[in-house]
Amino acid sequence: MTKKMSTHQAEEDRRNDEILIYLNGEIVPKAEAKVSVYDSGFMLGDGVWEGLRLYNGTWAFMDEHLDRLFEAAKAIDLDIGLDREGVENALLETQKANGMTTDAHARLMVTRGVKTRPFQHPSLSQQGPTMTIIMEHSRPNLPRPIKLATVPHIRGLPMSQDPKLNSHSKLNCIIACIAAEKAGADEALMLDVNGFVNTTNACNFFIVRKGEVWTSTGDYCMNGITRQKVIDLCRENGIPVHERNYSLVDTYGADEAFLTGTFGAQTPVGEIDGRQIGSGQMGPMTERIRSLYKNLIEKECA
Ligand SMILES: Cc1ncc(COP(=O)(O)O)c(C=O)c1O
Repeated sequence: MTKKMSTHQAEEDRRNDEILIYLNGEIVPKAEAKVSVYDSGFMLGDGVWEGLRLYNGTWAFMDEHLDRLFEAAKAIDLDIGLDREGVENALLETQKANGMTTDAHARLMVTRGVKTRPFQHPSLSQQGPTMTIIMEHSRPNLPRPIKLATVPHIRGLPMSQDPKLNSHSKLNCIIACIAAEKAGADEALMLDVNGFVNTTNACNFFIVRKGEVWTSTGDYCMNGITRQKVIDLCRENGIPVHERNYSLVDTYGADEAFLTGTFGAQTPVGEIDGRQIGSGQMGPMTERIRSLYKNLIEKECA
């Protein structure tokens, strides 16, 4: 048995014991950052969130994150209670309070707020939204490539829980992750409704075949910001890239596979369903894309 690992693993940092949290306009110590048991986020998973990363004093791709947050809030008919500038200021205020300058990760969450009664109807949330920001010192640290296991669970469909929503409720993804762990893997590889390879439970998924980069059509997965940056970088640098349907046969036979997400940028995959992918180590295309992405971050966060 290999050691348990998650794609969101970071170096131990004792400073995170003492961080300050943004909670509805206040900056409070971690131990005091508490929300009501009547909060719709706690009770029902009724909220949306964004994960952002700080490099060299700049929150990378802020516009894209704010676009996605406000789009998701509109889709679930949630009034965030702040405009874009207000959300950005909350983030900067939390950063300042924590004295963070680089290598930090923020989870910015907005729920429909505290309910008057413990039931589902959204009209029971009458006190306005609850907004919190958890900002941690964060340097991703994975001792080996990720192992995936294919699971029967799928992400929501556009007419149920749209996979493009960064919703608080992640139960289907959590069940998927548990199934993958029980199969001895780190994270779940999830297919789409037609059986094509789609996404993992927490990241977007890519394979490399004969010098080409493939990822799913995008119809059934999170519209990942890192995913789009990787596609754009491939296009700009003459690397053939395809958003297409492909199967597990194509995937097991790939030369390389990697995940994308704000937290870990590009994470190599070494094994899927007990099949070694390529050399089992990070391949040359993954390394090239990581280096192109690092350059992009250096430009974006100069
Ligand atoms: C299911 C899922 N896929 C992919 C991603 C990666 O998206 P991004 O690159 O915008 O961080 C996330 C992160 O929120 C996610 O929850």
